Amino acid sequence: MSSLTQVVALARQRPMPLAGIMHERIGGYGLADIEFVAAFDVDAGKVGLDLSKAVFQSPIAATAHVSVDPVGVAVEAGPLLDGLSGPLSGIVTPHPDSAELDPDVVRSRLAETGAEVLICLLPTGSTEAVQMYARAAALAGVSFVNATPEPVAHDDELVALFEQCGVPLLGDDLRSHLGATTLHTALLDLLHSRGLRVVNTYQLNVGGNTDFLNLADPGRSASKQRSKRRALSAAGIDASTVAAGPNGFVPHLKDTKICFLRIEADSVLDTPLSLEIRMEVEDSPNAAGVLANAVRVAAAARTEGMTGVLDDACAFLFKSPRRPATEAAGLHDFQAFVAALR
Ligand SMILES: NC(=O)c1ccc[n+]([C@@H]2O[C@H](COP(=O)([O-])OP(=O)(O)OC[C@H]3O[C@@H](n4cnc5c(N)ncnc54)[C@H](O)[C@@H]3O)[C@@H](O)[C@H]2O)c1
Repeated sequence: MSSLTQVVALARQRPMPLAGIMHERIGGYGLADIEFVAAFDVDAGKVGLDLSKAVFQSPIAATAHVSVDPVGVAVEAGPLLDGLSGPLSGIVTPHPDSAELDPDVVRSRLAETGAEVLICLLPTGSTEAVQMYARAAALAGVSFVNATPEPVAHDDELVALFEQCGVPLLGDDLRSHLGATTLHTALLDLLHSRGLRVVNTYQLNVGGNTDFLNLADPGRSASKQRSKRRALSAAGIDASTVAAGPNGFVPHLKDTKICFLRIEADSVLDTPLSLEIRMEVEDSPNAAGVLANAVRVAAAARTEGMTGVLDDACAFLFKSPRRPATEAAGLHDFQAFVAALR
């Protein structure tokens, strides 16, 4: 969230093109048009602060690259549910109101503030809380972007609710702009396009932000592992036993994420080919490039009256879309979807 607010602030300070931003406008919306009207958290240190301050409040690992002007929106307490049921409970003190809040508070605040899109960036493993925010968005008529790997686009009841309420849904599990999953699946596509047979592969990821702290708990990271395997399966390999996931919390790395990737394949005459890559990125800005696309797609689709899962946009934007695609097909469908928006 911190990086998205910084991207919007930068777009107001500096004209396009901005590095890593694919589309100046989506459905008529520029980045500078994104306005924040409400924000929910459970962290006692963030609730009550203006969003522009909360996004830099500890414990947050995103680096401040751009200053963010006050937005006039105070972070409100949201219902806690299972939001911090893991290692984060050791570093985040929940706001006292969050334990008792009725989920209907979220629906009514979304309706009162005139929100058009709700972006869900809860910790992985918070199934109950994520699905509660999804329900609230659908009932309030607000598009939902599920950045987490918890099932929303993969939950039949929730999908039906978004269809009944006439609201667009995007998910699950936001891709990074150029992250480990995209690099991995693009390389698999490349090898397959030359007829090579992939025999072994892995994708190990370490980092030092709160996401990696939370994912260090196997009970919290199961959905992330499933999501990454789904993405690799969409690239045409049997990923059921592939090691691909969060593999360690290394505090001094802070928001730096390092991916170690290896592919072994058989080439002509069964000769072996192997490759190893180490990719290092700043994790939060890498997510903001995709969020900048997703939030504008979600707003434009709502204006155009689209409902339910936006399959043509989701394969490019998410690791675990309902209808998976190869890199090339996902990009093609996304570009066509954006071009068709008014
Ligand atoms: N590169 C990325 O940052 C990236 C990419 C893809 C997907 N994701 C996914 O997005 C999600 C968020 O990642 P992050 O790095 O922003 O995490 P984070 O740890 O920085 O932020 C999570 C926030 O959720 C708050 N929270 C916990 N329970 C809550 C509740 N019930 N209601 C409201 N707020 C609550 C926490 O207090 C915290 O501020 C994770 O599921 C992650 O896997 C992140």
